[in-house]
Amino acid sequence: MKKTRIGIIGAGPSGLAQLRAFEAAKKEGHDVPEIVCFEKQSNWGGMWNYSWRTGVGKYGEPIHGSMYKYLWSNGPKECLEFSDYSFDEHFKKPISSYPPRPVLFDYIQGRIKKNKVRDYIRFDTTARWVSYDEDVKKFTVVLDDLKIDKTYSEEFDYLIVASGHFSTPNMPYFKGIENFPGQVMHAHDFRGADPFKNQNLLIIGSSYSAEDIGVQCHKHGANSVTLSYRSNPIGVNWPEGIKEVPLLTHFENDTAFFKDGTSEKFDAVIMCTGYQHKFPFLPDEMRLKTKNNLYPDHLYKGIIFNKLPRLIYLGMQDQYYTFNMFDTQAWLARDYMMGNFKLPSKAERRLDIDKWLEENDKLTSSFDHVDFQTAYIQDLLALSNYPDFNVDKVAVMFKEWLKDKDENILTYRDKTYQSVVTGTMAETHHTEWMDELDDSKERYLYQDESEEMLSEKSEITAI
Ligand SMILES: Cc1cc2nc3c(=O)[nH]c(=O)nc-3n(C[C@H](O)[C@H](O)[C@H](O)COP(=O)(O)OP(=O)(O)OC[C@H]3O[C@@H](n4cnc5c(N)ncnc54)[C@H](O)[C@@H]3O)c2cc1C
Ligand SMILES: NC(=O)c1ccc[n+]([C@@H]2O[C@H](COP(=O)([O-])OP(=O)(O)OC[C@H]3O[C@@H](n4cnc5c(N)ncnc54)[C@H](OP(=O)(O)O)[C@@H]3O)[C@@H](O)[C@H]2O)c1
Repeated sequence: MKKTRIGIIGAGPSGLAQLRAFEAAKKEGHDVPEIVCFEKQSNWGGMWNYSWRTGVGKYGEPIHGSMYKYLWSNGPKECLEFSDYSFDEHFKKPISSYPPRPVLFDYIQGRIKKNKVRDYIRFDTTARWVSYDEDVKKFTVVLDDLKIDKTYSEEFDYLIVASGHFSTPNMPYFKGIENFPGQVMHAHDFRGADPFKNQNLLIIGSSYSAEDIGVQCHKHGANSVTLSYRSNPIGVNWPEGIKEVPLLTHFENDTAFFKDGTSEKFDAVIMCTGYQHKFPFLPDEMRLKTKNNLYPDHLYKGIIFNKLPRLIYLGMQDQYYTFNMFDTQAWLARDYMMGNFKLPSKAERRLDIDKWLEENDKLTSSFDHVDFQTAYIQDLLALSNYPDFNVDKVAVMFKEWLKDKDENILTYRDKTYQSVVTGTMAETHHTEWMDELDDSKERYLYQDESEEMLSEKSEITAI
């Protein structure tokens, strides 16, 4: 009998979680389906695979990455730890709770390098178009091998969309912006605070990108940072040099005017206005159409496309939980595709989705959001054999983290948390976050140097 064929689009944390889930089943002695993962970049890791490029890549594809230099985890690492591969197992010693991007990238890779997961992935390959034949119950995926500029197609029994949703900018228009003389960019193209030293910076948006890019620019020497909010201000205790104002109404040359009647001159504008769920390779009837939210409609258990259940989406939610959520999704998706998790009827699935949507509608505070996503993870954990972890304790950590940020947005990354996987208490980082200008893995992990050597090194890298 022919093996079931599974196609995965994207080798970011979600796609890699799916590969790891199948590897885990293989280790348990199960006969796993044939799997092919397509990744348009030359390496795995999705967002965590930093790209210095903006616009298009060397093969003319839109650049996926939205991460930037000096990006540190914006939540405690203890809230995202894989429950089958701890930070202790990877780093062999306790590390701090808020590692920089290269350190988390290293951790993601550690768990999959141990297996031959790379063999499943076709790099430099873009999924261009997908169609589905109901009669034979197969997807045809049209692919571009970017390196040799060749188009071909392959058939699959199940298709997993793990292409991320923080890559295509949402870019609003503000009257007069076309005459603004300084730089105007979206957060997607931000690659670090260096160009904004000594500048007066206007940031539009009031979510994570606005907060983090604003704070980073402040840390790395912007003259002033003004955050302009549409619905609600971030509302933390901002240090001198950062402030929040209501929404921008229009520009007149380099002057921005705000809803409260105030105005100010700026040197540059960064739109931290979020991203679109964009699937240019999917036909209308298969596309997930949603805003960034905790429970996108049409996905049973947050992953299975209800109208066409052989189509699976991973990681499409707004994210408190990240790597461990992708794992719980991928384990359940695996069991379903291997016939070990039976789907209820379409109508029953619809009722289950509606139940979650109703709960989602009732949420008002950030704590509610955390509790909601915690309940979602618990729901998934009960349905597969992904190693259990203390999700309630993770929820408590998320709430502590929210309080830490409220108390001091510049020092919350100096706090430490305890792993629910190993019980290990995180180390305090050798340098306070505000003084740490070097985000390299080498500097981060090199803890035995004398303070003198450390400060010499940071001066060198800060130049
Ligand atoms: C600026 C920023 C900072 C973040 N910081 C944190 C943080 O500190 N902590 C945290 O936990 N999370 C953070 N996140 C959330 C982040 O999105 C997740 O951690 C994670 O990367 C999501 O994984 P994913 O695999 O679902 O998507 P992605 O990481 O976006 O990966 C999707 C992959 O699909 C590939 N792909 C897309 N389209 C195609 C196609 N047509 N064909 C082939 N391949 C394709 C892409 O190249 C990419 O490799 C951050 C996100 C952003 C944007
Ligand atoms: N590691 C890190 O430090 C780090 C840094 C950056 C980002 N991230 C991650 O990146 C992801 C995306 O975060 P994000 O902040 O880019 O997106 P987001 O959370 O979806 O927020 C989008 C923001 O844009 C605003 N907005 C949208 N349209 C607007 C308009 N027309 N005018 C004014 N404001 C508008 C929204 O305001 P409303 O509230 O009015 O809708 C909201 O504040 C998150 O998962 C986050 O954790 C992490």
